Amino acid sequence: MNELNSLYDLIGGETKLRALVDRFYDIMDSSPEARDIRAYHAKSLSQSREKLFMFLSGWSGGPSLYIEKYGHPRLRQRHMPFSIGMRERDQWLWCMNKALDESGFLPSVVDHLRKRFAEVADFMRNKTDGEHNV
Ligand code: HEM
Repeated sequence: MNELNSLYDLIGGETKLRALVDRFYDIMDSSPEARDIRAYHAKSLSQSREKLFMFLSGWSGGPSLYIEKYGHPRLRQRHMPFSIGMRERDQWLWCMNKALDESGFLPSVVDHLRKRFAEVADFMRNKTDGEHNV
């Protein structure tokens, strides 16, 4: 993808990406459906908002803000402290899909993002299904 047709540009750049991330965390923060993964996060979600925005900027073909500040994301490794199975994956995707539904992005862009987020979220699983995190 070149700079003219990156996902980042199709979304509408920094402002729209920040709005998506903010909506995602607002939904997580206010929905009982996401209570398990909300509990993994700090009381204030401001750092999470900033980090996810920075990561998604580079991930979608925009400025590599996360890598410039923190180095290689090693996302799976960074999620190891949190027990993530199908339930947690689905809670994360539920919030993101809801935020995407409200985003106003082109339907083809929403569809593409849904699929890519589903892949990344599934890759983050580190707990065998049915296993309990006691
Ligand atoms: C599958 C379910 C997921 C759960 C339960 C989860 C949970 C968490 C938690 C608890 C944190 C630490 C708090 C924070 O620093 O924000 C975190 C960090 C982060 N997550 Fe996730 N996450 C999930 C999936 C994803 C996905 C799919 C992405 C990317 C598309 C992502 C991107 C990030 C990033 C960039 C960070 C910051 C890493 C750092 O620098 O420490 N997460 N996540």
